[in-house]
Amino acid sequence: MFRWKDFSAKHKPMILLAPMEGYTDSAYRQLVKSVEPSVVCYTEFTSSDGLKYGSRRSFQKIDFKEDERPLIAQIFGKNPEHFGECAKMLEEMGVDGIDINMGCPSGKVINSCHGSALFKFPKLACDIVEATAKATKLDVSVKMRLGFSHLDINDLLPFTKGLENSGCKHLAIHGRTTKQKYTGLADFEPIYIIKEHLTIPVSGNGDIKSFADAQDKLKNLDGLMIGRATYGNPWVMKEIVEGFKGNTYNGPKTFLEKLPTIYNQLRLAVDFKGERVGILEMRKHLANYIKDFPGASKYRFELVRVNTEQEAVNILEEIKKSL
Ligand SMILES: Cc1cc2nc3c(=O)[nH]c(=O)nc-3n(C[C@H](O)[C@H](O)[C@H](O)COP(=O)(O)O)c2cc1C
Repeated sequence: MFRWKDFSAKHKPMILLAPMEGYTDSAYRQLVKSVEPSVVCYTEFTSSDGLKYGSRRSFQKIDFKEDERPLIAQIFGKNPEHFGECAKMLEEMGVDGIDINMGCPSGKVINSCHGSALFKFPKLACDIVEATAKATKLDVSVKMRLGFSHLDINDLLPFTKGLENSGCKHLAIHGRTTKQKYTGLADFEPIYIIKEHLTIPVSGNGDIKSFADAQDKLKNLDGLMIGRATYGNPWVMKEIVEGFKGNTYNGPKTFLEKLPTIYNQLRLAVDFKGERVGILEMRKHLANYIKDFPGASKYRFELVRVNTEQEAVNILEEIKKSL
């Protein structure tokens, strides 16, 4: 059974794929794992109420293949009982861990007192962790930010200790407050201080784009979580994992070198979501690979408008011929 403590003892540091709604579905996770198998994957955040009431879309977010393991299912909500029920369901579905979202800054989520709004209600946050941990044998973790409207280490320390005492087995912390959303730079200094005060593994998250960034940010942490830097560049995960082993990994640099991976992602997306939805979702991913060669912007313009797999293949082949 997956245990954060054991996993972090074996993987120094742990490298985690950040949960990203609209991106890290099963196809994306399989792609990243095909490049770097040691990565821990999180699902996109999934409503605990949606799971409880049997929403098909919520279940699709959890759907996974064996090679995505260890797979952590991330859920959000505010009702501790629902979290407990979902934990049992998720355990039956075979995921390796359950993560509670306490970091989402989106208006819709925080207005319902979900996501990072829980920072304002420490007792409820702890009750949710406790109810989830009591309902399952799986490890329960939390992903959070540095605070709601402002950063105050005197609030963060008791908040995170409370989560640990309630049964949280791993914390991933994005170095921004809710108010900051994605502006400014992620601040890792408070994360290092939190790590000093806890016994569970702690991972830092925010703005890591390369091995150099990862090496610079790791300090006393157990893991690093990487999100946006994987867009059009799943190889960054291998670059980071190999870098920490003392190796240099140079991933594909040219379009032609990247093409087999682009085709793999296209296939995975269509297999997972069907052609219509798979291609709509692939538009942004395709565009992310198309840069640094003559005519790239014209091809990006075309790729974000494709409706079928064949249209995408035709444009990719046209690019190949033009280079
Ligand atoms: C498009 C998008 C969707 C996201 N969805 C989630 C989510 O579902 N759950 C979550 O905890 N964080 C979510 N995040 C936040 C990321 O997990 C991560 O904390 C943030 O992007 C900072 O890391 P990065 O600089 O490596 O991208 C999302 C971020 C983006 C850009």
